Amino acid sequence: MHSTQTEDPPLLKQAVRAGVASAGVASAGVASAGVETQVVILAAGKGTRMKSNLPKVLHPLRGLPLIAHAIRLAWAITDAPPLVVIGHDAEAVSAAVGNTGQCVLQSPQLGTGHALMVVADRVPIAPNRVIVMAADMPLIRQETMRALIEEQNRVQAAVALLSVIADNPRGFGRIVRDLAGNVQAIVEEIDCSPEQLGIHELNASVYCFDGAWLWQAVRQLQPNPRKGEYFLTDLIALAAQDGRAVRAIVGDAEETIGVNTLADLADADAALRRRINRAHLLNGVRIVDPATTYIDLDVHIAPDAQILPNTHLLGNTRVGAQSVIGPNTVLRNAVIGSHCEVRQSTVEDARMDDHSDAGPYAHLRGGAHVCAGAHVGNYAEIKNSTLGPGSKMGHFSYLGDATVGAGVNIGAGTITCNYDGVNKHPTLIEDDAFIGSDTLLVAPVTVGKGARTGAGAVVTRNVPPHTLVVGLPARAIRKLKTES
Ligand code: UD1
Ligand code: CA
Repeated sequence: MHSTQTEDPPLLKQAVRAGVASAGVASAGVASAGVETQVVILAAGKGTRMKSNLPKVLHPLRGLPLIAHAIRLAWAITDAPPLVVIGHDAEAVSAAVGNTGQCVLQSPQLGTGHALMVVADRVPIAPNRVIVMAADMPLIRQETMRALIEEQNRVQAAVALLSVIADNPRGFGRIVRDLAGNVQAIVEEIDCSPEQLGIHELNASVYCFDGAWLWQAVRQLQPNPRKGEYFLTDLIALAAQDGRAVRAIVGDAEETIGVNTLADLADADAALRRRINRAHLLNGVRIVDPATTYIDLDVHIAPDAQILPNTHLLGNTRVGAQSVIGPNTVLRNAVIGSHCEVRQSTVEDARMDDHSDAGPYAHLRGGAHVCAGAHVGNYAEIKNSTLGPGSKMGHFSYLGDATVGAGVNIGAGTITCNYDGVNKHPTLIEDDAFIGSDTLLVAPVTVGKGARTGAGAVVTRNVPPHTLVVGLPARAIRKLKTES
């Protein structure tokens, strides 16, 4: 993702809070002269049909809010920061946009045509080419955008747009062509004649405009008499009347899924999931059952890793070569090295180094670090702790705020009592220590190198190296032989 700093977010937030229609970033001189290709993302609508308190464009899809999918696509086709038209929940949406785009406030929201009028007002010099897309179309491909641009350029069309042939018109605008096949108009469903309702070529809501033409045409839009809104789609008839070419490229049905409801979002998720899984498969990742494998967009998996069924790889998770993940495993922002195994476990904001393994039923939480060759067995939980190289924690144990050295054995049922009800305290277990079954380590406490605790020990004081402690509270009973 590009991180180009394109505006001053605090300024934007002030403008948004003030709710001033003429505010917005673009007035601070964002639009530079001579932009070759400008992407405009329409995101001011309410998204009523989602029936959710969360603004539609902030609903997550495979690890990113919908709006971020559109913004990424924009950066993939041009270096000019996208202009994002915001309105409903402007503050939350602008926060999600951050410095990945420039927000323009549309207030009130008087329709998709009005959204473009607001943009044209803010950007005094028309860009050469203007790509307009709705923010709710996360499956549009770069290649499709490029094809639209090429088509617009080839015939110097006023606009090249994406259409889709579908049996279910889903309330979309109908593409009206003349007998020669030239696009004459887009008619919204509320304005369709009975014959027009039968048209199966629909407007997907992705357009590539001749910028100079758009900038003057948008000022001629009139509100729709039935709905009172300015329809962007009325621009098509205006272009045809001007004698300018209008082209429609027919896209595929999956790519043009527009998210209006949570049912659409589920369809989009399934489609995107198939795409992501397929890319990993072609890259050499063995996904045993793609139908039950859920991988977010920004996950990296090395070739020759294996993903077993019913597994979720989320956020910024990374998996190294030859590692086997699953079944029934959730990795969220996890960094897994190579030759690791994670079985039926959850790993969140945690790291496992090469040749380590976990599970079944292990839970690695924030800040857990399992070092190379270490073993975490069943019903083990690790939080904000390091389990050193080659150390073993086989059975139902808890490590919190602990640093465990190399070659340590953590006996079954060991617990670091790291929380006294007010503060958290650290536990240090040095190399080659052996913690007996059911030991309670009352932090802050250190178990020295090569020391041992007896089964059931309650360790309240530091244990010197090479010393055996037993009992409650644990006392030293003898010095152990050292190898050196
Ligand atoms: C729109 C198209 C329709 C097309 C359909 C495809 C118009 C008039 N109709 O209808 O031809 O088939 O998309 O999905 O354009 N928005 C604003 N400001 C506004 C109103 C909307 O920014 O004042 C944004 C919305 O947030 C959304 C996009 O524009 O991202 C489209 O608006 P929406 O209400 O979803 O239009 P549709 O009814 O779906
Ligand atoms: Ca829509």
